Amino acid sequence: MKVILRRFTSIIFLFLFVTGISCTNYQFEQYFLPEAEKDVIGECDLLDISYDSTISQILQQNCTACHNNNSAAAGYNYEDYDLALLSVRDGSLLGTIDNESGFSPMPPGNTLDSCSIEKIRTWIVNLDQDSIPVDTIPDIEIVSNCDPDTVYFQNTILPLVVSSCATTGCHDQDSHKDGIILTDYSSILRTGKIKPGDPGDSEFFESLTDDDDDLMPPPPNQPLTDDQILLINQWILQGAQDNACNDGCDTTNVTFAETIWPVMQKYCTGCHSTASPGGGITISSYGDLVTLAGNGSLMGSVRFESGYSNMPTNQQLSECNINLLQKWINDGFTE
Ligand code: HEC
Ligand code: HEC
Repeated sequence: MKVILRRFTSIIFLFLFVTGISCTNYQFEQYFLPEAEKDVIGECDLLDISYDSTISQILQQNCTACHNNNSAAAGYNYEDYDLALLSVRDGSLLGTIDNESGFSPMPPGNTLDSCSIEKIRTWIVNLDQDSIPVDTIPDIEIVSNCDPDTVYFQNTILPLVVSSCATTGCHDQDSHKDGIILTDYSSILRTGKIKPGDPGDSEFFESLTDDDDDLMPPPPNQPLTDDQILLINQWILQGAQDNACNDGCDTTNVTFAETIWPVMQKYCTGCHSTASPGGGITISSYGDLVTLAGNGSLMGSVRFESGYSNMPTNQQLSECNINLLQKWINDGFTE
């Protein structure tokens, strides 16, 4: 009997011991695991976060209504992985959803739930830093060999004439209104009846300064500015040569005002002015260009990528100018 009792007692003890352990274990999980692990156990799963499986959905649900291919508010577009990375790189993605000072809180009038914020934060922290489009463009500074007193045809006159005159319906190869083609050196000289050294006797130049109905470009296009007319005048006076110089490529400090806008004025704004926006696209301000950069069409069109129209229409921008645009975008659109 004693033996049976002892056995029984030990069984009871064993039973109590085992349940005791599992209770402590349970409590240990409840109260002693670090915060992050608790999230994994709880509702917010922060493991295995990838762009395709997690992040793109959060962005689709909360951001792309206003930041998409067609309208990229503030220049940010979250429909595309590479463009979303730009917002990671300049810190704005986390800055806006996490209410950091210096950023407008996003989405406007709302905050993401804390789990989505943590998912985005986790994704960013774990991103392969090399995959973020950083400055892949090395800083280069090629000194210009342009003589400041010379007006060069290839650098200055051709882009100006093409974007102001060689537009569809006017003086491009196909339209050649009144037999005038203004797309290349020999056509400009021949059909514009340019007399080297004598602007006053050059029909092309006269049409730019006419004060009657023959003024070119005709309304609603903007007439050329006085400065632009002066450049053409000087070029003809200097012999109307087919000359060019290397105007350098300084990618060290790219800003909209100093670097990008002059390129736009030279190659683009003639066809994309407010008065006559080519294809309905206006390039007349910082915001206009940020939007085009944000929806991908700026780089798509200047790189002549398929799916985009080639811009400018006649000749691709120099590698330097394309790099400047890309650098401006990578650097976060400095004004
Ligand atoms: C209802 C439209 C709307 C939604 C949705 C929206 N945004 Fe915006 N966003 C805007 C507008 C408009 C601006 C520009 C005005 C401003 O900065 O407040 C902007 C600006 C931004 C900026 C630049 C802010 C700055 O301070 O420079 C970022 C980055 C941004 N949004 C990210 C996001 C993200 C990420 C989401 C989703 C979590 C989001 N937005 C959702 C409309 C929206
Ligand atoms: C000779 C006139 C002309 C010049 C110069 C020109 N554009 Fe255009 N651009 C147009 C026309 C017309 C369209 C719309 C029709 C089309 O897509 O071909 C257009 C369309 C575009 C589009 C939309 C392309 C797309 O496929 O969605 C962008 C972006 C653009 N231009 C940017 C530029 C930039 C940047 C420059 C200067 C580097 C430039 N354009 C120079 C006439 C011009």
